[in-house]
Amino acid sequence: MPSTLDALRRPLRDLRVSVTDQCNFRCPYCMPAEVFGPGYRFLPRAALMSQQELQAILAAFVAMGVEKLRFTGGEPLLRPDLPDLVAYAKKTLQVSDVAVTTNGWLLERSVDALAAAGLDRLNVSLDGLDKEAFREMTGRDLDPERVLSGIRAAQARGLPVKVNMVVQRGTNDHQIEPMAEWARAGGVTLRFIEFMDVGNHNGWSPERVVPAAEIVKRLAARWPVRAIGRSYRGEVAARYAYLDGKGEIGLVSSITEPFCRDCNRARLSADGKLFTCLFATSGHDLLGFLRSTRDPRELVRFVTDIWQGRRDRYSEERELLRATGSRESKIEMSYIGG
Ligand code: GTP
Ligand code: 5AD
Ligand code: SF4
Ligand code: SF4
Repeated sequence: MPSTLDALRRPLRDLRVSVTDQCNFRCPYCMPAEVFGPGYRFLPRAALMSQQELQAILAAFVAMGVEKLRFTGGEPLLRPDLPDLVAYAKKTLQVSDVAVTTNGWLLERSVDALAAAGLDRLNVSLDGLDKEAFREMTGRDLDPERVLSGIRAAQARGLPVKVNMVVQRGTNDHQIEPMAEWARAGGVTLRFIEFMDVGNHNGWSPERVVPAAEIVKRLAARWPVRAIGRSYRGEVAARYAYLDGKGEIGLVSSITEPFCRDCNRARLSADGKLFTCLFATSGHDLLGFLRSTRDPRELVRFVTDIWQGRRDRYSEERELLRATGSRESKIEMSYIGG
């Protein structure tokens, strides 16, 4: 099937689905506890896409050419029917790349069901190894050892694991080298993520971003690396291999080197709104449309119309939009899916 192109001639290949807006962590850069406290109104259950609705929606995206699916959140492992969704994507829809992005807290107990469902791989968020950095970055007084056990359990089941580390200057940048050392020893691909200005509450400022180039320079001083580029067009992370053969790292540099030109990603919030950019200010009510037409075949037309009009390239326009103050209210990352 010929792929649908957006207004900047980018195809739709990658769908990121948030299956819940809730999370068991309170990372200050994503869900600060002061905002996402006991009074915060999460989505009511009836507003969430059901398993059946999710399946109909996934089938429509796959019919449109999506070949990469990621389940995220919030924390996707909080949703008990996640393995059913993975099994549907792999076994029924035969999607070639099905992954989950998780904070790893519930991983050890979930990994068997996910592997049995056919999951291809996992990305685990982990921003520090020492207890203090972990506490600061997660907003919870918890032991990172439990996340490490989850990662080991996934590897033991044969699931490839990448670890995402969001780097904030002054908070966890001292963990760059220890994390790299740990990942090199454990067969984990570590990706460093520039702290992004998503949402409205995360205290973002340019000074708190550690540029990808600085991270590479620091690491290369200890373990020389060479750039190996991206493995496919539109990959988010730029890759570097260690010259001593001990694996690779990735850099997600949305701030210093935006990658919108090849962005082939759509996002679906847990209540079924379609967003064509991580930084969008509003979504399209796909679930509302499905619930009103009750005809899943209409979904493809609905999404095609939206995709064809897409012009998003926020990271490339960030400076301009910030200078003119024209993007005041963004969508929260825990809702839209990271
Ligand atoms: P792989 O498929 O393993 O390469 O994963 P991924 O990088 O596509 O997804 P993951 O969930 O691991 O996200 C890593 C980081 O990249 C997170 O901080 C995401 O928010 C960020 N990210 C993913 N897609 C985009 C995007 O389209 N734009 C921007 N600005 N950031 C993105
Ligand atoms: N900047 C960069 N990455 C972020 N994530 C969440 N919030 C931010 C932010 N403000 C990351 C999570 C997870 C991924 C889905 O997005 O740590 O690894
Ligand atoms: Fe939860 Fe991930 Fe957001 Fe942290 S970054 S609060 S783990 S959704
Ligand atoms: Fe895609 Fe928007 Fe991210 Fe640019 S900022 S890469 S358009 S999601």
